[in-house]
Amino acid sequence: MAKSEAKGRTITIGITGASGAIYAQSVLRLLDVDPRVSRVYFIASDAGLRLLSTELKVVAADPKKLPSLLTGSAAKKIECLPNKDIGASIASGSAPVDAMAVIPCSAGALGAIAAGIANDLLTRAADVCLKERRPLVLCLRETPLNRIHLENMLRVHDAGATVMPAMPAFYYGPKTLGDMIEQFAYRVLAQPGLPQEKQYRWKGKP
Ligand SMILES: Cc1cc2nc3c(=O)[nH]c(=O)nc-3n(C[C@H](O)[C@H](O)[C@H](O)COP(=O)(O)O)c2cc1C
Repeated sequence: MAKSEAKGRTITIGITGASGAIYAQSVLRLLDVDPRVSRVYFIASDAGLRLLSTELKVVAADPKKLPSLLTGSAAKKIECLPNKDIGASIASGSAPVDAMAVIPCSAGALGAIAAGIANDLLTRAADVCLKERRPLVLCLRETPLNRIHLENMLRVHDAGATVMPAMPAFYYGPKTLGDMIEQFAYRVLAQPGLPQEKQYRWKGKP
């Protein structure tokens, strides 16, 4: 059994400058209270920080305060790592990280990951997940898609990532925006093996 499994799961969450910072907030809140998870690393690109401010009005002079501002809790197991710190533990495959999700994932970050460009911590951590054959979920948010986006999606898929566009569903009859965001967050967390009890499950036609 890997060290990380013995203690609980370790998950990295990357936030880039695509619209949909609220998805990341929802995922972080779920991970924060999940007893199966012992550690969450959180990286925001500069554009990701900008979107946190634009869309959620969350701004922190000290980025270390971001997890608690986003979750509304002490967020003790969530550690915010500077995107410039390419020497952080998770920049190495030897660090016991179980999975990573980039949520929301910009077309730019998708392109960098697809090209193997790993010049900041977020893209390096994603690159490490691919080389170590660990789950990497990319919640791309862009529309319409050009040929470069489509090709990049196929590239990362072939390299082992799960491309999971930030695309909420309607078949379960969501009543609020919160329902839609949460149900999408549940689906994202199910990918690295963290299924959520409240995830709607289609049971076929009555
Ligand atoms: C308000 C705002 C919304 C944006 N929405 C998106 C988006 O939904 N998808 C996307 O790919 N880029 C979007 N962008 C552009 C990215 O932020 C930009 O390409 C940035 O360089 C991405 O950098 P990053 O991948 O390092 O976070 C948006 C930018 C702004 C300012």
